[in-house]
This record gives sequence, C-alpha cells and structure tokens, in this order.
Amino acid sequence: MMDLLSKIPEIGSMEIHERYRQLAREYLADRALILKADAYNEASGGMRSLEDTPLGGDGTVYLEYDAGIVATAKRKYPGKVIIRGDIRYPPFRSGTFDAVADFSTLDHVPPEQMVQTIREYARCLKPRGQFILTLWCDPVGRGTTDSKQYHWPGGLDSLWRAVLPVFPVSLWLTWLGQRDGFYMAELVADKWTS
Ligand SMILES: C[S@@+](CC[C@H](N)C(=O)[O-])C[C@H]1O[C@@H](n2cnc3c(N)ncnc32)[C@H](O)[C@@H]1O
Repeated sequence: MMDLLSKIPEIGSMEIHERYRQLAREYLADRALILKADAYNEASGGMRSLEDTPLGGDGTVYLEYDAGIVATAKRKYPGKVIIRGDIRYPPFRSGTFDAVADFSTLDHVPPEQMVQTIREYARCLKPRGQFILTLWCDPVGRGTTDSKQYHWPGGLDSLWRAVLPVFPVSLWLTWLGQRDGFYMAELVADKWTS
C-alpha cells in the first residue's frame, strides 16, 4: 500500500485550484442551480477564483460560515448569491439543487459531523443531482497531531463506507495528489434516489 501511495504525485496549491476549475467545467456545465460550499476561493480572488467556470454563473449559491469571508466575497462579487451559513445545516428545502460542489470544505467540519454533512448535501440535491467533492484524507487512516491539518479522520475504506449508503451508485473516487504527507481524494457521485 505504502509503495502505491508513493506513486501519487505531489501537488501544489496552484494545481489543486486548477483542478477545481477543471472539475467544475467537466461536471457542472449543464447544471442550472448549484450549491457551492464556502466562498474562500471567491474572497481570495486571483488564481483561486472560480469565476471563469460554471460556478461563476448566475445559478450558483455560495454557503460560507465565516462572516469576514462572506463580506469580502460579496464586495468582490456584488451580483453573486453568497449566504452566511453552515454546510452542516444547509438552509435549503430538500431537492433544491442540480449539483453540490465541495472543494475541501467538508474536511473543516468536526469529524463526527462529516457523515451528517454528506447526508445534508444529498438531501439538498434533486434526484440525479451531481455531487463533487475533494477532501484531504489519509489512505490508511493515520492520524495527525497538527490541529491545522484538516482531513477526513479515517482511511479511504471509511470514506467509502460513509459515502456509499448516501450515494449508492454512479460514484467514483480517485486520488488527486499528495502534499505534506496528506492525500487529496476526489469524488464524483450522482444522486439516483428521490
Ligand atoms: C481554508 S478554506 C479551504 C477550502 C477552499 N475551497 C480551498 O480549497 O481553497 C475553508 C473554508 O470553509 C469555510 N468553512 C469551514 N467550515 C464551514 C462550514 N461548516 N460551513 C460553511 N463554510 C465553512 C471556511 O470559513 C473557509 O472559507
């Protein structure tokens, strides 16, 4: 296993953010109403912005926890719908969105609330809605003592076990890359149930 892991390429912030843009273009182009977790990329601007992707369109609703980030993102993008709120408790009716995109927001939620958050994403999606997720995860579930290193708490197997009951089919998972001994997983799923 460790030998295989060493083959996963190192990846830097620029490449990660470029991958976010690719994922958005590849999977969200035909999705009318999209829920995007956090507005960090929008507040940061520059190379991290997603404005040149389908997430930059009128159909995207941003849900961001931090008041300062909400204010900065709104100043930069006055036309966008940026709501201050919590992905653990998304304030939307069931079946509202055609897609949910979470680029490393879930791994900022306390570990014991991550599965509940995935269920909330599924609840907010329409049937056949698209779910895109990237998150830091250690393949074999090694812990870290660094409180700033946000990541899924278990190994890849536990990530599968958490996601499969919620998104049972049309799901794939791959490794995006590694940085500082952590691995970024990338997951694309469709909601088939009502
Ligand atoms: C440091 S950023 C990393 C994610 C970012 N998309 C990226 O990869 O560059 C994490 C963002 O998630 C937001 N956040 C953390 N917990 C959240 C929650 N429960 N609900 C909504 N946003 C949250 C933070 O305020 C911050 O803007």
